[in-house]
This record gives sequence, structure tokens and C-alpha cells, in this order.
Amino acid sequence: MSGMFITFEGPEGAGKSTNLQLFAAALREADCDPLLTREPGGTPIAERIREVLLSHHEEPMSSDAELLLMFAARAQHLEQLIKPALAQGQVVISDRFTDATYAYQGGGRGISSQRIGVLEDWVQGSLRPDLTLVFDVPVEVGMQRARARSELDRFEVEQSAFFEAVRNSYLQRAAADPQRYHVIDASGSLEQVAAQMQPMVARVLERWHA
Ligand SMILES: Nc1ncnc2c1ncn2[C@@H]1O[C@H](COP(=O)(O)OP(=O)(O)OP(=O)(O)O)[C@@H](O)[C@H]1O
Ligand SMILES: [Mg+2]
Repeated sequence: MSGMFITFEGPEGAGKSTNLQLFAAALREADCDPLLTREPGGTPIAERIREVLLSHHEEPMSSDAELLLMFAARAQHLEQLIKPALAQGQVVISDRFTDATYAYQGGGRGISSQRIGVLEDWVQGSLRPDLTLVFDVPVEVGMQRARARSELDRFEVEQSAFFEAVRNSYLQRAAADPQRYHVIDASGSLEQVAAQMQPMVARVLERWHA
């Protein structure tokens, strides 16, 4: 038995966390109880690494240190939580995963995809998400939502050029593999956004009940 690994991606304020809860609720109604987790984080050690990554420091963080911390947290998350759950046949839904590394440390910080790919292969082996939902919004819309919600973390204070690069990376990755990625126009009302997840909920349940 092997489970199903689903990831929710997109920039700040796109609606990932809100829609992940709705997606999970729809699965539960059909007797599928998913494991919900997030990156960076998901286990006590990985959450401590998250704290280092997202909080503000007087000392600037080097892009390589940031990249390696992301994968250190991911290695812990995979070994302790994701892989055991998948081995038991569970559906696992993670709020961000390696596509976020390609978008933020790659597109945003300018680290080459090739270098990120080396770490991806090292830490994950052949494990890749089965399905990735990319919540796409114009940068200003996402930033406004994020600002209205809470204080800005170390990534959220970046300039709009950074977030344009993040958005473009996500869209390019999605376009390159339409089997795995499903781009959701997240600029509309919550109802309009949630409705676009319906075919994906159906797809997961079909596989789950097969
Ligand atoms: N379609 C929408 N229309 C208006 N407001 C929305 C919509 N979707 C989410 N929001 C609101 O915008 C804020 C950000 O949403 P949410 O936390 O789900 O985004 P996120 O993608 O998880 O962001 P982050 O990357 O910062 O965690 C929340 O206050 C949420 O209620
Ligand atoms: Mg969120």
C-alpha cells in the first residue's frame, strides 16, 4: 500500500492554508482522513528550523544557508512524518514543499535549479508529490492579504520583484508538468477559488477508493 502525497503551493496570501482546510474537509466527508502538515516545519525539530528561517535576525542570512536549512528541515520532515505516513497508505497534504524552494531560493534568491536539484535528489531520492495545487495571484493581491493578516516574516518583507520571480517560477514549473500541477486562479472570492479544487478532490477520492 502506498499513500498519496499532495502539496499546496503559491506565494504569501494566495490562500493555501485556507483552501487546504477546505480540501481536507471535503476528503473527510468521503471517509478519507488526510494527514495535514506544512513546510518548513512539520516536526518539532523542523519547526525550530522554521523559526530560524522565518524570524528576523540582525545578521543577514546567506542564500546557501537558507537553502540548506530548508532541506535540513525537509529531511527531518520526510523521515519522521511524511514517509512513514505514505508507507501506511495515508493521504498526506503539505502546505508548501520543494516547489517553494525552487520558487523562493531559486527564482527569488537566484540559486540555480541545478543546485537545488542536487539537494532534492539527495534528500528525497525519487520521492515527488503526486499532485501539486499552485494558487496563483497577482503579487499585490497576495501581499495585501498577507499584510492584512499578520506581521510580516523574513520573506514577506521582500520587494515586489522578488515575488514576481517567485510567481513566475511556480508558473513555469507548473507549465512543464501539467500531469502533476494544477494551477488555480486564486484572485477571486474564496467560493470561486474553492470551486476550482473540486476536480482535484474527485481525483484524489477516485484513487483513494480504488
Ligand atoms: N479568495 C480570497 N479572497 C479574499 N481573502 C482571502 C482569499 N483567500 C484567502 N484570503 C484571506 O487572505 C489571508 C491569507 O490567506 P491564507 O493564509 O490562506 O494564505 P496562504 O497562501 O496560506 O499565505 P502564507 O503563504 O502567508 O501562509 C487570510 O486572511 C485569508 O482569510
Ligand atoms: Mg499559509
